[in-house]
Amino acid sequence: SHDLKKKLPLTGKKALVTAGPTYEAIDPVRFIGNHSSGKMGYAIAEELSALGANVTLISGPSALKLSDKNINRIDVTSAEEMLKASLSNFPGTDISILCAAVADYRPKEVSALKIKKDSSEFGLELVKTSDILATLGQEKKAGQILVGFALETDNEVANAIKKLEKKNLDFIVLNSLNDEGGAFKNDNNKITIIDRNHNKESFELKPKNEVAADICKKVLDLLG
Ligand code: CTP
Ligand code: CA
Repeated sequence: SHDLKKKLPLTGKKALVTAGPTYEAIDPVRFIGNHSSGKMGYAIAEELSALGANVTLISGPSALKLSDKNINRIDVTSAEEMLKASLSNFPGTDISILCAAVADYRPKEVSALKIKKDSSEFGLELVKTSDILATLGQEKKAGQILVGFALETDNEVANAIKKLEKKNLDFIVLNSLNDEGGAFKNDNNKITIIDRNHNKESFELKPKNEVAADICKKVLDLLG
């Protein structure tokens, strides 16, 4: 009801979430991609919306469906498309949580025709994609909360703190890959949240919707 909605803590707040993989075209039938399912980002979008926020979800290719009809979903394919959609939605956004597993490199040239197996060897020249999170970090105005993820296999905390600072984030969510059942293609996730003061909070392995609630609780703490 209207009365109930009034009491939700993120009512009147605008939120932006990126989720899923990106696909970088090689030719008309092939791409470079990754195994991200989009589950973590979709769960965060649903949680922010349940807390009353007006949510835009920018999603790379994903089989997932949203149960919340209030979420504005924008489907994109490549890192470049995700950057454009993110930049155009960022002004006026109070909370941005970037979960997408964006490809770090894309083919330098996209072949207009299907590449034939003419030769015994084949090389692909790759160039770096734009860092969407770092770009929003540069654009960020006072009062805007920006959250990113980090997937590390070594020097996890130190590397995550580097990303937090370099990309001008309010906090970073470190995904544990070493622990059984972490991150990709999984229903569960084990995270550590690191904020600007380098305060660390580690959580148990739990379902992604509960992880989403932990992340959103940290956002509520920051909002005061
Ligand atoms: N990210 C992004 N755009 C990119 C690459 C990453 O927005 N082109 C975001 C991800 O959504 C995530 C964060 O940056 O929130 C960290 O991603 P990660 O792959 O861990 O770090 P990178 O900065 O890409 O560095 P590396 O892969 O070399 O560790
Ligand atoms: Ca990366």
